[in-house]
Amino acid sequence: MGHAVLLSLVTIGIYVVLREALAITLRQTPTAPQTFIVHMAPILDMERVVGAVLVLRDVTELRRLEQMRTEFVANVSHELRTPLTSIKGFAETLLEGALDDKEITRRFLGIINLETNRLQRLIDDLLSLARLEGKRVEPLASGASVSVVGKKVMTLLAPLAEERGVELHAHMPERLPRARISEDLLGQVLINLVENGIKYTPKGGRVEMRAQEHEGLVQVAVADTGIGIPAESISRVFERFYRVEKARSRHMGGTGLGLAIVKHIVEAHGGTVGAESRVGRGSTFTFTLPSEPAGET
Ligand SMILES: Nc1ncnc2c1ncn2[C@@H]1O[C@H](COP(=O)(O)OP(=O)(O)OP(=O)(O)O)[C@@H](O)[C@H]1O
Ligand SMILES: [Mg+2]
Repeated sequence: MGHAVLLSLVTIGIYVVLREALAITLRQTPTAPQTFIVHMAPILDMERVVGAVLVLRDVTELRRLEQMRTEFVANVSHELRTPLTSIKGFAETLLEGALDDKEITRRFLGIINLETNRLQRLIDDLLSLARLEGKRVEPLASGASVSVVGKKVMTLLAPLAEERGVELHAHMPERLPRARISEDLLGQVLINLVENGIKYTPKGGRVEMRAQEHEGLVQVAVADTGIGIPAESISRVFERFYRVEKARSRHMGGTGLGLAIVKHIVEAHGGTVGAESRVGRGSTFTFTLPSEPAGET
């Protein structure tokens, strides 16, 4: 608090000169993230200043949340504007005469359709996040079988994997307790992780899903042999809209919300998420969920 106190003393000096109450914001040091609001008022004895009362309030968390909200709105606007600009541009070009060329019309409508899909996905993802935000889901009466849902997800994504030339494998033990989550939400988590694995793995690679039980938790890992994530980015991939390579992800129709949704769903059910990766080698995403007491597949 050294700097803050020093600054406060300077401010008291100013007050003494001005004889007014002051409220100022202090940063502990230019780099330290801690922020205080200082309120001060004079102590007067017969019109004479004999001292000052100083109240310091730590508003670091408040400022951090304000900052996050501002960034979120800026990100959402940017993400919405990109496809909209493209839709508008192609629609205008068609209206201005390109319609006469059947081939061009077909190509432009294709792009408009693609961008509309992206907008729809973005809005769906934002709504999912808003629904999950801050909500703690009550443990369910009957949870989901990770092996059953895992296999469904593998089947669902098999065509994408084949198109990309990536192999899919699932290693699920015979007897695995059910996880305390609905099949639907567990499916969303697994789809996001496996889809990422496929998207960020070059042809000839593989994506593997493993699950095991450990001390009342079901632990799931989705590992790929893909491009990997640089060390400085790994702690940020669960943030909303964070993408290591914006252009590459956007090119694949990504919104950067997938992992944020995964983290929200898992944490809302009392679980944790994790990721480790080596550039050029691959990535492993893990999550845990509380399991149901009775062992059952
Ligand atoms: N398995 C992976 N291998 C390499 N990079 C990954 C992997 N999974 C995620 N990433 C990186 O983390 C970023 C965030 O992932 P996330 O799933 O949140 O967004 P996205 O895949 O870009 O878009 P969306 O999931 O919304 O379609 C990705 O853009 C990518 O850079
Ligand atoms: Mg994704």
